[in-house]
Amino acid sequence: MVRNRNAVQPQGDKARGIVRIAVIHGPNLNLLGTRETDKYGTVSLSTINDMLEEIATEHPIDLVFFQSNSEGDLVSFIQETGAQCDGLVINPAAYTHTSVALRDALLAVAKPTVEVHLTNPDAREPFRHRSLIADIVLGRVAGFGPQSYCLGLLGLLRHVQEER
Ligand code: DQA
Repeated sequence: MVRNRNAVQPQGDKARGIVRIAVIHGPNLNLLGTRETDKYGTVSLSTINDMLEEIATEHPIDLVFFQSNSEGDLVSFIQETGAQCDGLVINPAAYTHTSVALRDALLAVAKPTVEVHLTNPDAREPFRHRSLIADIVLGRVAGFGPQSYCLGLLGLLRHVQEER
């Protein structure tokens, strides 16, 4: 599922001071709101995207959203759309702990990336303690529920603006 407010205009964005950011959600996050609500809360994925859009209205940010349960589709999105963005906010969900393919896609596009999680995986089962992207991302935000995405987005925006 792809959601984008505006037409894709990567070339003009920099001149206009706009920071284009892809927000990528991995498997099972489409079920947020009803899935394991004791851990993930009752806020839906579409509400999280709306919260990020709200932030984007107050900053020079153009957002494109993508969710997939498929590892290959996530890799293709990173290659095709992620490569056209100034940075990525990604919650790889379970693929955090397993996917060499996602890691390699992020390395290939080489965009500043923030890894976000609703929960704090380090405080959960041991198999969630390993992130295959932790050492290649700009930063990580975990444990703040939907606010993890908001904090990650604002941190990434500041980073991209400072690098310009
Ligand atoms: C998650 C944590 C992962 O371990 C888990 O597989 C998820 C969600 C989080 O946002 O807390 O699906 O990424």
